Amino acid sequence: MSTGRLKIEWARQYMPVLSSIRREFEEGRPLESLTVGMALHVEAKTAVLVETLAAAGAEVHITGCNPLSTQDDVAAELNEVPGVHCYAKRGATVEEYYRAIDQVLDARPSITVDDGMDLIHVLHTKRRELLKGVVGGCEETTTGVHRLRAMAAAGALAFPVLAVNDTPMKRYFDNVHGTGESALAAIMITTNVLMAGKNLVIAGYGFCGRGLARKAAGLGARVIVTEVDPRSALQAHMDGFAVMTMDEAAPIGHIFITTTGNIGVITGRHFPLMRDGAILANAGHFNVEIDGKWLEENAAAVVRRDGIDSYRFGSRSLHLLAEGRLVNLATPKGMGHPIEVMDLSFALQALSTRYIAERGKGLAPGVHEVPFEIDEEVALRKLATLGLSIDRLTGEQVEYQKSWGQGT
Ligand code: NAI
Repeated sequence: MSTGRLKIEWARQYMPVLSSIRREFEEGRPLESLTVGMALHVEAKTAVLVETLAAAGAEVHITGCNPLSTQDDVAAELNEVPGVHCYAKRGATVEEYYRAIDQVLDARPSITVDDGMDLIHVLHTKRRELLKGVVGGCEETTTGVHRLRAMAAAGALAFPVLAVNDTPMKRYFDNVHGTGESALAAIMITTNVLMAGKNLVIAGYGFCGRGLARKAAGLGARVIVTEVDPRSALQAHMDGFAVMTMDEAAPIGHIFITTTGNIGVITGRHFPLMRDGAILANAGHFNVEIDGKWLEENAAAVVRRDGIDSYRFGSRSLHLLAEGRLVNLATPKGMGHPIEVMDLSFALQALSTRYIAERGKGLAPGVHEVPFEIDEEVALRKLATLGLSIDRLTGEQVEYQKSWGQGT
């Protein structure tokens, strides 16, 4: 068995929810004759999703959504799967990255599945002639949904897209537990440094930041949170974490992790304040949160190790991981979210793709919520695989929740 196949089979054994969906898809073939274009992190868990969509009858064309997150052996193995074409490669240049997106679009997909909206962006800018053939799409991450909402608000989005990211089943588990565990794991395995006792600065106390903070505290780190939203800042304070500005945190932090989805969070104003040996990592989607360009242009010298660029300023060195790209996937040993978490996220993607295939034509262009029933179905399937049961609302309770007349 190839190393790519070994990785895919390893992942599959911990993805019982997606496996149960695949069995149903094999029988019902809900995506028969459809072409699905995808831009996701090409690694083993994604491959299990791709095979699920192919088993449903789709022809799948896929590339990466980040130049550094592709696992080449998995990409090669995907090209062996009937009906699947993979164009991703690790370390793609920006030109190669966008050429691969073009190759996906050359297949004229009727459904798009994006992580960060790059596929939809190119479709709406350079390949508009293909728009009429698209029924709809699904978006995996917060940044992609933000971009889509901005597009929709500007009246620029030409077809319906389901915001898979925004479901409780995605955000509560993928963003919180997935990013929380995998970003810390990637930092630890890349640097081999101890978390216990470190001042760990987390920029952004959203879903990802909350997961990171909780797990880093569990490892014994002293967590410091920076925020721009007063409610999130207060939440971090009441959850027991120090809250301050990045200017205040810069001289104190040993490790910095950005999770804002925003631009220019750690910049040339902050680097000169930092202590020698500070480690900088981004867990948000794009490599714009930490100003790597400033480091490249202003450092006296740079030492490059696999996954770590060390920038020398006088007697101090600052270490940037994975070129400021999302650390849990773009570091050489980063494997992305834990498998069980992606089982849930990709179960949502599989069911959402089927929904678009069946109902997309009836939806208006714009960003749509994933139907409640799909989210609930994934949770119920997962509970069933765990052998856990929950109570059901009684008729009396259903009525009570709907009523307004009954007080004390
Ligand atoms: P969120 O919207 O829940 O949280 C973002 C937080 O950052 C908000 O509380 C916001 O107030 C804060 N923020 C914005 N600008 C800031 C600034 N300049 N300084 C400090 N705080 C600031 O978003 P979520 O779901 O936590 O996602 C965050 C990012 O992580 C997105 O880019 C998303 O796409 C990405 N993501 C990455 C994953 C990974 O595998 N590493 C997985 C899931 C999401």
